[in-house]
Amino acid sequence: MRLFFIGDIVGKPGRKILADKLPEIRAEFGVDIVVANGENAAGGNGISRKMAEEIFRAGVDAITLGDHIWDQRCFESEISLIENLCRPANLPAGNPGREYVVVEREGFKLGIFNLLGQTLTKTKADCPFAAADRILASLVPECDAVFLDFHAETTSEKVSMAWHLDGRIAALVGTHTHIPTNDARLFPKGLAFMSDAGMTGPWNSCLGRNWENILKKFVDGRPRAFTMAEGDNRICGCMIEIDNISKRAVSIEPYVWPQFPNTLSALEKSLAEEESMRKAEAEKLASADINDID
Ligand SMILES: [Fe+2]
Ligand SMILES: [Fe+2]
Repeated sequence: MRLFFIGDIVGKPGRKILADKLPEIRAEFGVDIVVANGENAAGGNGISRKMAEEIFRAGVDAITLGDHIWDQRCFESEISLIENLCRPANLPAGNPGREYVVVEREGFKLGIFNLLGQTLTKTKADCPFAAADRILASLVPECDAVFLDFHAETTSEKVSMAWHLDGRIAALVGTHTHIPTNDARLFPKGLAFMSDAGMTGPWNSCLGRNWENILKKFVDGRPRAFTMAEGDNRICGCMIEIDNISKRAVSIEPYVWPQFPNTLSALEKSLAEEESMRKAEAEKLASADINDID
């Protein structure tokens, strides 16, 4: 069973690159199930039912969330209506929404859940380690394998969770920092792990937001609007293979498309592509009827 996990989808640029590229990724890698973190899908701030439906239409099977869960006011009344979307299971009692989802593919049942870290995270949440034990008591007997999106700030909390769950679930991938880490690996008892899957959205930015305003805030400390950025879109995530018989992970590979430019020639190529895309977009807008523009 091949699982593709996609890191935080940020705004319209993130949703667009996903819709454009995901069908090709599914076919190229023979992906069985796609899970995506959608906590920043609505202009960087939370998600709505409409956005979730757009993400499902792009080819995602299940959506996980994070600390931005309630940024869109309407979402509190919408969340329970959305199947295959789960909230962090350790939000305090009384929060609406599913604590986990199960996706079945050719008889293989994958349980999916989501937790919030407590270290350096402002959102109120219960102990994620105790919550993992509680959720797994229901999920493990029901499923062939389990995947956790651990939405947390610190790598130490994520690695500790990996040790807590190694041998009990098939895969744990972190989200929230929007920066992919270079530590995709298997733990000794077969848990596939990566500290952070990274961001799906505009990289001409600081974590998906307009970088100029964030830089100014770092320099002089004054508050600024963290508006959505544009340009240099990428999909970040990882590909996980789970053995259908042993139900253990057998491989995990990071996925970034397009690759980050790390040589001068790659940078020049990337900037030229970006420029021609910007021109094509501007021409499209100039020739479009005003009613076609969203
Ligand atoms: Fe987050
Ligand atoms: Fe995020």
